[in-house]
Amino acid sequence: MDEQPDFVVEGARVALGPLRMDLVPTYQRWENDLEVANANGRVIPFTLEAERERIAGRNGKPEFCDFTVYHRADQAPIGVSSLFQIDHRNGSAQFGIDLGERRGQGLGTEATRLTLDWGFTVLGLHNMLAVAAWNERAIRVYTKVGFREVGRRRGMGLTMGRRYDGVFMDLLASEFLQAGGSVLAGRAPHGSPPSE
Ligand SMILES: CC(C)(COP(=O)(O)OP(=O)(O)OC[C@H]1O[C@@H](n2cnc3c(N)ncnc32)[C@H](O)[C@@H]1OP(=O)(O)O)[C@@H](O)C(=O)NCCC(=O)NCCS
Repeated sequence: MDEQPDFVVEGARVALGPLRMDLVPTYQRWENDLEVANANGRVIPFTLEAERERIAGRNGKPEFCDFTVYHRADQAPIGVSSLFQIDHRNGSAQFGIDLGERRGQGLGTEATRLTLDWGFTVLGLHNMLAVAAWNERAIRVYTKVGFREVGRRRGMGLTMGRRYDGVFMDLLASEFLQAGGSVLAGRAPHGSPPSE
C-alpha cells in the first residue's frame, strides 16, 4: 500500500482508522468467515450489497463507533473493532472485535486496548460490556485488558449445534486507566489547565 491509511490512533503494532466503503468486499469476506460468523452471531452469509448496506447504515449514528484495525508492519487491514449500543447519557457501551486474519499474534489484544481507550478517553464512557459464549480466546483477551466476569446467561448461544452460556464481562474507565492501558490519555490538548 503506497499511501498511509487514515489512522486515528496508533499503538505499537496496531492502528485504528474509520470504516471504509472501498473495503466492503474485504469486510464481507471476514463476515462470511465461519469463525467470525460464529463469534458475532451473524450466521446468514452476507452478499456484497447486504454488507455495503450494513456498513453504510452505521455511519454517523451516535450509538456506533467502528474502526478498521490495521497491522502497522505493512499497513494491511486485518479486522474491525466496534463500540456499539453506546448510551452517551449513562456512559455505557458494548465492545466487539473481529479479526479477519493474522489471529493469534497479539494484534487482537492491542486492538482491543486501543478501541477501549477511544471509548473511555475520547468518548468519556464509564462502563464497557463484552459478551462471549464458547469463545475462550476472546475471553482470554478481554481478561488480559481488564474485563472481569459479572455473570452468565445459561445456554444463551447456539454454535455449531451446541449450546453455550453467555459470559458477561465489564470494565470501568477508572480500572482501564489505572492499569496504564491508555495511549490517548497523554494526548490531552495544550491550552488552559483542565477544570477540577
Ligand atoms: C478473538 C480475537 C479478537 C483475539 O485476537 P488475537 O489477535 O487472535 O488474540 P491474541 O493473540 O491477542 O491473544 C489471544 C490470547 O488467547 C489465548 N488463547 C488462544 N486460544 C485460546 C483458547 N482456545 N483458550 C484459551 N486461551 C486461548 C492465547 O494464548 C493468547 O493469550 P496469551 O497472550 O496470554 O498467550 C481474534 O482471534 C478474532 O477476531 N477471532 C475471530 C472473531 C472473534 O472470535 N471475535 C470475538 C467475538 S466475542
